Amino acid sequence: DIHRIPHPPHRIPFLGDLVGAHPATPVQDTMNIARNLGPIFRRKVFDHEFVFVSDSSMAAELVDESRFRKHVAESMTDLRDIAGDGLATAYHHEPNWQRAHDILVPAFTREALKSYHPTMLAATRRLLDSWDRCVGGAPVDVSRDMTKVTLETIARAGFGYDFGSFERADPHPFVRAMVRALKFSQQNAVEVPYIGSLLTRRAKRRNAQDTALMAEIVDEVVHRRMADGDTGTHDMLGLMLNTAHPETGERLAPANIRNQVITFLVAGHETTAGALSFALYYLVKNPALLAAAREEVARVWGGGADPDPSYEQVTKLRHVRRCLEEALRLWPTAPGFAREALEDTVIGGRHPMRRGAWAVVFTPMLHRDPVWGGDVERFDPDRFTPERVRARPAHVYKPFGTGARVCLGRQFALHEATLVLAMLVHRYELEDHADYQLKVHERLTLMPTGFTLALAHRAHHA
Ligand code: HEM
Repeated sequence: DIHRIPHPPHRIPFLGDLVGAHPATPVQDTMNIARNLGPIFRRKVFDHEFVFVSDSSMAAELVDESRFRKHVAESMTDLRDIAGDGLATAYHHEPNWQRAHDILVPAFTREALKSYHPTMLAATRRLLDSWDRCVGGAPVDVSRDMTKVTLETIARAGFGYDFGSFERADPHPFVRAMVRALKFSQQNAVEVPYIGSLLTRRAKRRNAQDTALMAEIVDEVVHRRMADGDTGTHDMLGLMLNTAHPETGERLAPANIRNQVITFLVAGHETTAGALSFALYYLVKNPALLAAAREEVARVWGGGADPDPSYEQVTKLRHVRRCLEEALRLWPTAPGFAREALEDTVIGGRHPMRRGAWAVVFTPMLHRDPVWGGDVERFDPDRFTPERVRARPAHVYKPFGTGARVCLGRQFALHEATLVLAMLVHRYELEDHADYQLKVHERLTLMPTGFTLALAHRAHHA
């Protein structure tokens, strides 16, 4: 029974395991608890109890689709106020999940990715223009600018929208509303018994305005597209508007299309921005790996100052891509996913789970399981060479979730991030002027904070 699963020692009635817990760093606190308690433990916050699993063999059980499925956890149900029955927050049994999944799969094939490549390159060039202006001047804030480039990329590839992130002094109203609504949903997920949410009426009212504004902006884009009589399927919105389900012929309802657009914007930018920022951090701290990345880019793209890489040339950057995979091992920017039992079962040979009971696969620690070797904290992209991947058990690396509900955008994210990272290391000397010490900020996702680099142009000899 559940009492066999350890929990932190200072459990207090009513408040739960809040001793030593810091509200701003729940993921990093949970990592420390895992280091003390081992690969399965419970954490109680007020009257919610969560079970975390980070052992590779138990994780392998939880990802078995014949025994478990995705659980839309409490933190996700609050996201439903923003993303509704969009793909990421849809319950598995909702017909809209399967319908949207089948209609949107073509938006993430290799062919589709190829068609987004010029859009990704254009967004990257906006970042380069912005960084060029900072050469020799004030240092750039890495996480802030990675967030801009990934937001521009998904907004354009998703629905042909330009937020103008690099040109504006303040975020676009949509972006401001989205960031605030996400923060609200995270705070709203914490409910105190008898009292409920600690958020004020004013905060709730503002949240209602924020979500309404987001819906309004998306609806406007959709209406414009329909009014133009545009029947193209060149982006995700076009596919949703102009294709029917391959078997049933059904189409997505307008409210569902709106939820998908918002889902892509939310799911598709901070996560990728975090991966890029962590990768840059580790490269700056490991000059030999940075040199190897530059050498690879020059070899595959040519050594000229202003490369114009094709889709294929990006896919050939194995080392750069491994740097991103390794960054996502140490800091999976969406730090886990929840799985619920399809029937009464037992995991790890001794922990019973009732049908519908659920546990979080806690990837920051799964990715530090002893199967990774004795030096799990070391940044080593060669862990992702095909030989070493083959030598490891399956299911020890899950930054994109698993099974039917695996991240639909993973190839999109990796292609985009490989392109951006390669362009940056090729073009700039990245000076760690403040000897940055990693500080991980937790919002919905993980992101380095306060990470700034001073820039210079590299000398290129074509
Ligand atoms: C789902 C991670 C980028 C779209 C997920 C899940 C994870 C994840 C862990 C599963 C959540 C769960 O099981 O509850 C990431 C990471 C990314 C990334 C780490 C970047 C490095 C993207 C991008 C897009 C995207 C760029 C869109 C273009 C989605 C969607 C789902 C999803 C639609 C829901 C799939 C479904 O349930 O049908 N992502 N993601 N993601 N992601 Fe991503």
